[in-house]
Amino acid sequence: MPAAQTWEPASYARHARFVSDLGSAVVELLAPRAGERILDLGCGDGALTKKLVDLGCAVVAVDSSAPQVEAARKLGLDARVMSAEELPFRAEFDAVFSNAVLHWIQNADAMMAAVCRSLRPGGRFVAECGGSGCVHKVRTALVQALDRRGIDGEARVPWYFRTPGDFATRLERAGFRVDCIALLPRPTPLPGDLIGWLEVFAQSFLQGLSSAAREEYLQEVRTVLEPQLRQSDGTWVADYVRLRFAATKEPAEGQAEGL
Ligand code: BEZ
Repeated sequence: MPAAQTWEPASYARHARFVSDLGSAVVELLAPRAGERILDLGCGDGALTKKLVDLGCAVVAVDSSAPQVEAARKLGLDARVMSAEELPFRAEFDAVFSNAVLHWIQNADAMMAAVCRSLRPGGRFVAECGGSGCVHKVRTALVQALDRRGIDGEARVPWYFRTPGDFATRLERAGFRVDCIALLPRPTPLPGDLIGWLEVFAQSFLQGLSSAAREEYLQEVRTVLEPQLRQSDGTWVADYVRLRFAATKEPAEGQAEGL
């Protein structure tokens, strides 16, 4: 069911620019070097991809959203529409980088296998995404407000917020050595009203509702969350939790140093 998510570059820029603005820590963890070949997995409108290119990296940017890829191309980037589970690349990147995307991917094992195939042995997979407990209050309010309407709210949740243990196990199974992995609570001030955030990121909950029913539903969720997430100065602060990691593709059997 949760497949209703679409991305509209203008409203993404208005309500979600903070996503790339807050990406500097994961870029630092990547430690990109000029001349490296990097795959940006889930590039969105290309704001962070552009930073990597400006640092001298040769970047291929991929995203499943055609409008976002179009926006990234307007920045002069090599951006392609592609599914993270079906990457066609073979041992051609020094690093795969991803910010704020992996929690949208249901089949994490297929994605990790595809990333691993794309990397040269010794290549790095460095990423940040929502982790266990991310936007728990928002999620609960969205689910419960649908449940009150006789709709199974849980079935509409489009996000896979995994624990470090779960993610590390999958990475190792896919052929990576995990260099670091951590869960980082990061309460995040939103640039505008909660409704704007919900309209960008929570579309699957709205599926099948008439426009009047959507309006009523969103207002109800906002009312429930206002005492929990709205500060006295009016700023909405969402209860984000990040999962950040760096992993290295293990050399194939018999290719390890000294063998
Ligand atoms: C995140 O980047 O953590 C996130 C994005 C959309 C919905 C929830 C969380």
